[in-house]
Amino acid sequence: MPKDPQPELLCGPRHVAIIMDGNGRWAQARGRPRLFGHHAGARRVREIVEACPRLRIKYLTVFAFSTENWKRTQVEVAGLMSLFRRYIIKETRTLAENGVRVRFIGDRVRLDTKLTELMDALEQETKNNDLVHLTVALNYGGRDEVARATKRLARDVAEGRLKPDEVDEETLPKYLDTRVLPDPDLVVRTSGEARISNFLLWQSAYSEYEFINTLWPDFTAAELERLCRNFGSRERRFGAVLA
Ligand code: IPE
Ligand code: IPE
Ligand code: MG
Repeated sequence: MPKDPQPELLCGPRHVAIIMDGNGRWAQARGRPRLFGHHAGARRVREIVEACPRLRIKYLTVFAFSTENWKRTQVEVAGLMSLFRRYIIKETRTLAENGVRVRFIGDRVRLDTKLTELMDALEQETKNNDLVHLTVALNYGGRDEVARATKRLARDVAEGRLKPDEVDEETLPKYLDTRVLPDPDLVVRTSGEARISNFLLWQSAYSEYEFINTLWPDFTAAELERLCRNFGSRERRFGAVLA
């Protein structure tokens, strides 16, 4: 049997979710416009996705645009939307060939059809892959997700497909955008802010958190590996007292 090169990573996180923050400050520090930082940030994603199989991360979820990010200037929002379109076009082939299955979570209604068509096509193109499951949160907000889920659930109750008594902790998550994903084991936020900014509210109830100072465009696979090793040394109790 070949020896496992990094046996200790067997107890690393299976699902890592990342709040990719700090692009604006990274650009500002270089005297460049915020969009310059967003482009640099987008380029970081590939290395992180490619590191996942080695780190035994099966699910990677990244926060790309929140339901609150529409409050930014029209120039920044339009620049980000155009970046997302270009990113999908540029990365589709690499993702497909590298065994990555891509999914999007968030409300698509407010996104323009050119972008949602590309998102649909990328999901379709990669739907038979299973090496890494990459989920991109785009126009995603945890509260918005729970509200949309509740609306669908209420409709099922009103139309007799679900009884009020059947609503419990198992039923509700089946209505969330993340219904097919396990809960994140580790949530990382870059750029020094210690808040979750409406990310995966329901799903991260028992996640471990890492708030690190690195700005997203400086984040590397080596740093992710360090966080995964750190995770392996934490004791997750889930409310119980361990013997
Ligand atoms: C994160 O970087 C990317 C998005 C929210 C789209 P920011 O743009 O929030 O960067 P900072 O926090 O202003 O540095
Ligand atoms: C969270 O970052 C959203 C994304 C990384 C996409 P923000 O920069 O929008 O969060 P706040 O405004 O600092 O809480
Ligand atoms: Mg920010």
